Parts: sequence; structure tokens; C-alpha cells
Amino acid sequence: MASIGVIGAGTWGTALAVLLHNNGHETAVWSALPEEIEEMKQTRRHKNLPEITIPEEIFLTADLETAMGEKDVLIMAVPSVFVRSTAARMKPFLKKGQLVVDVAKGIEEGTLKTLSQVIEEELPDAETAILSGPSHAEEVSRGLPTTCVVGAHRRETAEYLQSVFMSPVFRVYTSPDMVGIEVGAALKNVIALAAGIADGLGYGDNTKAALITRGIAEITRLGIKMGGKEQTFVGLSGIGDLIVTCASMHSRNRRAGILIGKGYTMDEAMKEVQMVVEGVYSAKAAKALAEAYGEEMPIVDQINQVLFEGKPAKEAVGDLMLRDKRIENSLLPWE
Ligand SMILES: NC(=O)c1ccc[n+]([C@@H]2O[C@H](COP(=O)([O-])OP(=O)(O)OC[C@H]3O[C@@H](n4cnc5c(N)ncnc54)[C@H](O)[C@@H]3O)[C@@H](O)[C@H]2O)c1
Repeated sequence: MASIGVIGAGTWGTALAVLLHNNGHETAVWSALPEEIEEMKQTRRHKNLPEITIPEEIFLTADLETAMGEKDVLIMAVPSVFVRSTAARMKPFLKKGQLVVDVAKGIEEGTLKTLSQVIEEELPDAETAILSGPSHAEEVSRGLPTTCVVGAHRRETAEYLQSVFMSPVFRVYTSPDMVGIEVGAALKNVIALAAGIADGLGYGDNTKAALITRGIAEITRLGIKMGGKEQTFVGLSGIGDLIVTCASMHSRNRRAGILIGKGYTMDEAMKEVQMVVEGVYSAKAAKALAEAYGEEMPIVDQINQVLFEGKPAKEAVGDLMLRDKRIENSLLPWE
């Protein structure tokens, strides 16, 4: 049994806390919002996971030091925009070598760093790892079979975390490719916005499949240049997460995209979805990364034009269809 502090009481932090508790670990959950913790204490419910009861044994607190204490594992489960500020708040209470597992998905706008890199910058004494994959909180909390991958610098750490998270309904693989996992996790949200827009425009399954396959192609090209490994992008945190995010109504990125496809502005869509739409931030970061690494990312480029330059979504799809003729994969030329 491990003792675990979940830092962040959003949908994912709460679902993971329940999973870890069910796995027999001593689990505490911290929120930056005291009123949120108060409500959860009183109702033993999370507002976005109405079907589950939060077991009494899960300790809920707004005190960061208590949540971190002598914990074996700390789980960074705040939305990506709050990862740096939360890590900075954790610094005074972190023990040397304490394990911090990032489960947030994103690339930091401005620095273009992955979130584990952000955590390492703010918490140089921590050992970092990541957990990612096709795993909607709504389904994990209901115990529906799910698979994820743990990435870590050290194999022993990845295998330890695999045993901490793994259950009969939550299968966990290990990988040394932290960069690849994090790039896949962050950039799939951008393609999910595009898939949502296509749905909102009334396009069909062919269009969705095109966005998924061409989306993973451009994510892979960039990810490899950033140091990720090609195999990771055909794995759980690559194509796996991309499929679920583009297909599921649990995806807030896709839901926001659908509204934009129907004619909402980005701001109107964000307001309607009422949750942080991380793909919007990741879209900007992805465009900046594409420029920094000299990589062509046509879907990312069009999404940025739709989100930030008011380009009509239909025109963006037309421009994608009428790009210069290409070979499907430049690594597969004729002899
Ligand atoms: N929801 C999922 O299914 C899921 C699955 C896998 C990964 N993730 C990733 O996990 C991360 C969290 O997602 P989520 O769905 O739990 O988000 P969420 O929108 O449910 O998170 C909202 C929570 O953020 C916290 N918060 C609000 N303001 C804060 C602040 N100033 N500082 C720190 N924390 C603050 C609060 O606890 C609030 O409840 C995201 O990066 C997401 O991509 C989510």
C-alpha cells in the first residue's frame, strides 16, 4: 500500500483518487479552491461525476502541506494552465526525491515546455513521471475498462507506478519516452477541436477518420523532432488518446469544436462548455512549436486561423483539402 496525495480536485483528480483508494492506497485530495473541498466533504460527490460517491476514507483538504506530507506519490492533476503555479506552491513542502506524477495534458504557452519539464523546473528535488492515455474520468470513475501508459526516466519508477495504478479495470503499460507521451497527450486536444468543428459543420465519418490519421501524422513529425519516439505515437498516448478524444462526447475539446463548427465564436463556445478547453491553449503552443522546429502542421495551422483570426471553419476545411498534392508518407517513397 502506498500513501498518495492527489493535487487537484477536478474531474480527473477525483476519478484517480477513487481508483487509487479502490486499489488499497491511503489517498488524500487537495484543491486550490477551499469552497470546492468543503462542498465535496459535505456531499461526498463531485459536481461533474454525479454517478460516484467519494468514499469517506479519502481525505479531502485545502491544506497543501497536509496533502503532501510524507506521501510516497504526488499526483499533479490540476488543469495544465495551473501546473506551474501549483508546482511553485508545492516547493516548500516537497521532500527530496518525492515522486510527482503529472496527469495533466498540455504544453506550456510561452516556454513551449512539456508539463513534466515545467514541474522539474519548479521542483528540482522531485522525481517526475507521467500517466497518460485514452482515459475519460467519467468512464474510469464508473470502473469501465481503461488502459494508460506511465512514462518515467527510470524503469523502476515506471514499474512501481504501474503497480500502484493497475487494477482489473485499469491496465497500465510502461514507457521510457516521456517526451513522446506528453506531446501526444497535449496535441490531441487540438485535433479534437478540429474533429468537433467537422462534426459541427455536419461532415461525416470519412472526415473524422481523415483528421485522426492526418492529425497523428503531423503530431508524430513534430514529436520526433522534439525527441519523442515514433512508436509512442501509435501507442496509447498517441493514436489511442486521439481516437477517444475525437470520438467521445466526454471530450470538452470536441464539444467546443462542435459549437464552433455550428457558428459560435471561440469565446462563446468556451463559455457554453463551462470547463477549461485546453486545446485552445495547446493550439497556440503547437503552432509556436511547429515554427520553432520548422515542421509543417497544416491542421494545427488551420485551427489557429479559425480560433484566433476569425477564419470560417468551412473555408479552413476547404484549404486543407486543396493543399498541394503529397505522398502519404515521405519515408515510403518508390524505390
Ligand atoms: N477529465 C479527464 O477525463 C481527464 C483525463 C485525463 C487527463 N486529464 C487532464 O487532467 C487535467 C485536469 O483535468 P480535469 O478534467 O480534472 O479538469 P477540471 O476542469 O475538472 O479541473 C478543474 C479543477 O481545477 C482546479 N483549479 C481551479 N483553479 C485552480 C487554480 N488556480 N490552481 C490550481 N487548481 C485550480 C480545481 O480543483 C477545479 O475543480 C487536465 O490537464 C486534463 O487534460 C483529464
